[in-house]
Amino acid sequence: MTDLNIHKHIIAIANQKGGVGKTTTSVNLATATAAIGKKTLIIDLDPQGNASTGLGIDNHSRRVGAYEVIIGQSNAKDAIQNTIIPKLDIIPANVNLAAAEIELINVNSREFLLKKILHDDLKEDSYEVIIIDCPPSLGLLTINALVAATGIIIPLQCEFFALEGLVHLMNTVNLIKKSYNPSLQIDGIVLTMMDKRNRLSLLVEADVRATFKNLVFETTIPRNIRLSEAPSHGKPALIYDSKCLGSVSYMMLAREVLTKKNLLNDNERQNVKREKSVG
Ligand SMILES: Nc1ncnc2c1ncn2[C@@H]1O[C@H](COP(=O)(O)OP(=O)(O)OP(=O)(O)O)[C@@H](O)[C@H]1O
Ligand SMILES: [Mg+2]
Repeated sequence: MTDLNIHKHIIAIANQKGGVGKTTTSVNLATATAAIGKKTLIIDLDPQGNASTGLGIDNHSRRVGAYEVIIGQSNAKDAIQNTIIPKLDIIPANVNLAAAEIELINVNSREFLLKKILHDDLKEDSYEVIIIDCPPSLGLLTINALVAATGIIIPLQCEFFALEGLVHLMNTVNLIKKSYNPSLQIDGIVLTMMDKRNRLSLLVEADVRATFKNLVFETTIPRNIRLSEAPSHGKPALIYDSKCLGSVSYMMLAREVLTKKNLLNDNERQNVKREKSVG
């Protein structure tokens, strides 16, 4: 395996804290990058399979998924499915994935499995953006995501305990950088479930921005009922209701991420400028 970048940008969406908006961010950010024109793959690396459900992949069509790929039973190519969104593919998750952390305990180079798979299996099928939805833990699956990734996006829920656990996550990122993946970058922290009418939300935002400065994305994601309704319809919010504030915010986040990582071509940059001036 060489270090040649086959895929342009691989983003792990991670935070060991549960329910902070990892999956909502993964699904809608991936939909938005695909809508902008980027060939995008979402990898559901959470045994809960919420990203797969949110993209309308039903249970019996998930027989080959992230688990079968990670343990080497299947080629990643065979696990990839198209979604209802043009340019967006998915490697779904099924419940088998819950066993992976334990089964892989004695496997050599177990931290590098996903990196090697993305490099070897998808050699001829490169993606411009790969988004990995991580489980709420810092176990082997999240470590595999961080070793394979070029960047991490950390969703942070705007609540009193928002910063709890963040130090631990940052330490883990630094450790992975040092030991396994020197080029891993923190792409940014995204504030989720923001309620601008709530003083606490605003205080948390001010606190996080003062602490992490330009690591925090300008775009914040509001608390928006449409974002939480969409998964039960098996659709990203961007398809379920493209005009709702949640969808509009995820579009803005995608533009901010792609701009920050220098991934927009001239045409796309012009479109973004135009939409910004209209919006
Ligand atoms: N901006 C938002 N507005 C309203 N509801 C939201 C928003 N973001 C997420 N939710 C809802 O909050 C819950 C948790 O979100 P989500 O599943 O994205 O978090 P998670 O970090 O992936 O959770 P887990 O740690 O269990 O994987 C879900 O019911 C989701 O629909
Ligand atoms: Mg999740």
